[in-house]
Amino acid sequence: MTLSKQPVLLVHGGAWAIPYDAVDAHQHGVRKAAEAGWRVLEQGGTALDAVEEAIAVMEDDDTFDAGRGSFLNEDGKVQLDALIMEGSTLQAGGVGCVERLRNPIRAARKVLNDSPHIYFVGEGAERFAEEHGIALCANEDLILERELVRWKDAKKQKFLTVPPEFAGPPMDSHDTVGAVALDAHGNISAGTSTGGTLNKAAGRIGDSSLIGCGCYADNLSAAVSTTGWGEPMMKLVLSKWAADRVEMGEAPQQVAQAAIDRLQSRLKGHGGIILLDSQGRIGLAHNTPRMAWAWRRPGENADGVQSPRG
Ligand code: GLY
Repeated sequence: MTLSKQPVLLVHGGAWAIPYDAVDAHQHGVRKAAEAGWRVLEQGGTALDAVEEAIAVMEDDDTFDAGRGSFLNEDGKVQLDALIMEGSTLQAGGVGCVERLRNPIRAARKVLNDSPHIYFVGEGAERFAEEHGIALCANEDLILERELVRWKDAKKQKFLTVPPEFAGPPMDSHDTVGAVALDAHGNISAGTSTGGTLNKAAGRIGDSSLIGCGCYADNLSAAVSTTGWGEPMMKLVLSKWAADRVEMGEAPQQVAQAAIDRLQSRLKGHGGIILLDSQGRIGLAHNTPRMAWAWRRPGENADGVQSPRG
């Protein structure tokens, strides 16, 4: 098989008011994730594998709101959502509201590979994962003392995920990880994984694991992953909206900025987005104080916690 394309990998580790004392950990975490995904691509592996590996590294890293270390929901539990999608076949796999999986992205990948369905939630998703060789853990294994303190503080402040005036959660209450990749075969993939918003209602699913909202991939348009306050992104079906604009001929960076402008102007939403097309062109934008990101291309590594575009 001809390997014709130069691979590209772009990851994000959340767009929010990343506190100053957590900046280094975020930057280190996205760098490690990019390295893991890049190893796959360098060896001629698929974009799908690279996305899965990069995201699993961030789920395993306590820094991020994904896997262990995620924000707690109103019941004081970690409840996780993830989606992975492949751009040549449009195959996708997602899990929602899972409480006993360390790496929801690996369960999502099993759904993509081994199921005629696309999406599993809750206990059924956990059963599917276990039947496909993924060990379950206790929910307590995913909970950090840091998050218990944060959650108790939020409860004391009568913090609500969506206040009555629908102003949305504050910018220090969500984080999410994601990755997009182009492999040497010319295929693109995307994945997104999250613990959702702090103190969210039990059973609430955000944008991250819904096709076209927090994640999308089609070789004909773009691979997209979003992060931020999920409800406005769901209303705008933001990832698909962005992918469609790339398909219509706009450059990914222009589209990334347009998507965030639309999120802000239409619904006062906040968050960030990464995009990659099958020509290897990338886009990244956010309207939050910080966004952790890293990319790799042959001969080029970059990472940061502010938009590289200024
Ligand atoms: N974007 C993550 C969430 O709202 O659940």
